[in-house]
Amino acid sequence: MKKNFFGKQSDIVRAVDDVSFAVQEGQTLVLAGESGSGKSTIAKLILHAIPKDSGKIIFNGTEISGKKEDLRKIRMGVQMVYQDPYDSINPQMKIKDIISEPLEIHKIGDSKKRTGLVLEALREVRLEPADDIMEKYPHMLSGGQRQRVVLARALILKPKMIIADEPVSMLDVSIRAEVLELMEGLRKKYNISFLYITHDLATARYFGQKIAILYKGKIVEIGPIEEVLFSPKHPYTQALLDAISEPDPNNLTREKKIRVNW
Ligand SMILES: Nc1ncnc2c1ncn2[C@@H]1O[C@H](COP(=O)(O)OP(=O)(O)OP(=O)(O)O)[C@@H](O)[C@H]1O
Ligand SMILES: [Mg+2]
Repeated sequence: MKKNFFGKQSDIVRAVDDVSFAVQEGQTLVLAGESGSGKSTIAKLILHAIPKDSGKIIFNGTEISGKKEDLRKIRMGVQMVYQDPYDSINPQMKIKDIISEPLEIHKIGDSKKRTGLVLEALREVRLEPADDIMEKYPHMLSGGQRQRVVLARALILKPKMIIADEPVSMLDVSIRAEVLELMEGLRKKYNISFLYITHDLATARYFGQKIAILYKGKIVEIGPIEEVLFSPKHPYTQALLDAISEPDPNNLTREKKIRVNW
């Protein structure tokens, strides 16, 4: 909501409006749309990080209210991975303390138990030797390794769902696939649901089963990923697809173009 100089409401901006979708257990829903379309706002609404004016968030079959116990449920069960690992980890903390922080916040285990869980989480994201890595500081790791640390921290509470908001867009192109593959492996192994937020339809196709296309705060199209990407119904989906396609010297089909971009 914008306010003018005198503090009066001059214009109401709805970052997202009338958005409704479900993420199935163990599945990935991709939330795609251009910058400013409301993707991160949806993530914040799910986690109750910002207030909503209306609507419901249902997690694991129950509606999540603003009550303390409900907030605890959602903040334990749904973990976030952000675009920039540097934004979400404290550079002055050792890796072991970064990863065990959620355990401390939720008062889980003693120090010995936490260290064991940290080691397990590090191995899970293939950061080894785990007992060596956990003593390091973030600046001693590469961008891809730091994002694995963020994933390890997300995993430590054994979440039902991970919201990954552009998790690979800051990483070098050569390691994006590795991190996405890692997430895909975790999804299958632990039946974790993912909400994968991106504007990159090529990675969306690799990682998702369903996709919702967001445009100016509204979902304009939602459905199985192949269906939406290969026979888009909405002109905006078409425009997004055209935006990622390179000029087309070889007259590639859309399917090939998406492969080429990926
Ligand atoms: N704190 C805020 N106060 C007012 N408006 C905001 C705030 N945060 C976001 N917005 C507006 O809400 C809309 C959606 O923003 P959001 O950050 O959700 O977009 P996004 O799809 O995540 O974009 P990006 O791809 O750039 O991350 C935008 O118009 C943005 O300007
Ligand atoms: Mg965003």
